[in-house]
Amino acid sequence: MEKIILTGASDGIGKALAFEFANRGHVLGLIARRENLLNEVKLECEKRGSPKVLVRTLDITDEAKLESVLDELDDAFSGATMFIANAGITSRSSFQSDAWEEVKKTFMVNVMGTIHGLEHMKLKMIKRRSGILCGISSIAAARGMPTAGSYSSSKAALTTHLETMRVDLIPFGVSVVTVAPGFIETEMTKKNKGNMPFLMKADRAAKIFVDGILKRKRFVVAPRPYRFIYPILQMLPRALFDRIMRIMYKRIRG
Ligand SMILES: NC(=O)c1ccc[n+]([C@@H]2O[C@H](COP(=O)([O-])OP(=O)(O)OC[C@H]3O[C@@H](n4cnc5c(N)ncnc54)[C@H](OP(=O)(O)O)[C@@H]3O)[C@@H](O)[C@H]2O)c1
Repeated sequence: MEKIILTGASDGIGKALAFEFANRGHVLGLIARRENLLNEVKLECEKRGSPKVLVRTLDITDEAKLESVLDELDDAFSGATMFIANAGITSRSSFQSDAWEEVKKTFMVNVMGTIHGLEHMKLKMIKRRSGILCGISSIAAARGMPTAGSYSSSKAALTTHLETMRVDLIPFGVSVVTVAPGFIETEMTKKNKGNMPFLMKADRAAKIFVDGILKRKRFVVAPRPYRFIYPILQMLPRALFDRIMRIMYKRIRG
């Protein structure tokens, strides 16, 4: 039985992950800012079979509070065996005076808050010489996606950081899993007005992600076609990438 701390558990992919882990009887520590939603998720997780569910309201960009909440949950579980950094926000490139604010906000959550949590839990797991650290990144990390500069680059930073951690932590018995979702039906993707290729329901994606995380896979991708699209995107010559992206992104963003 895993003892899991999960950020961004109040909605979307995080909520679906919590439900899927609960279905499989794991212990959960759920973190997000909206307390009412977290409490609803807790009740449902208990119904589904989780033996213990703790909730903590927290903005992951609050550095001191993040550390104290993680310490508190870790103590309550007598050592968490898994930490999933899922909380994240999306943003569009701005061509107005608030462009820098958008970049800062996105990096504060998707990079600073997310990597801070991973680094904090890393030290505990190193001491115990066991555990799983997981970051929910994105296929948008593969290349600089048009209209999503700060989102794409924030996820690329996370993916790269996770990759370094994965190799660094091998001698300590700590596994690092990167999850790269394609388009998943959540509040985040509701903002896209166009057609999102291979759009998948969150509960279906969560099953694939949980299977991969529990098997300690290095890199987990869903929906399936993105397993091939991701490396192809990375290999595309720049001129061709520019042409394809200009067409695709108009269709997706609407
Ligand atoms: N949906 C997709 O297609 C897709 C694709 C690729 C990657 N992803 C990634 O998957 C993760 C989850 O996305 P989603 O689609 O499930 O989004 P979502 O439905 O908008 O949910 C985001 C979750 O993160 C929490 N959160 C946001 N900012 C936070 C903060 N500062 N502190 C604490 N919690 C915070 C939210 O809770 P509160 O508002 O209650 O704090 C919510 O639970 C993100 O990292 C996202 O980038 C999603």
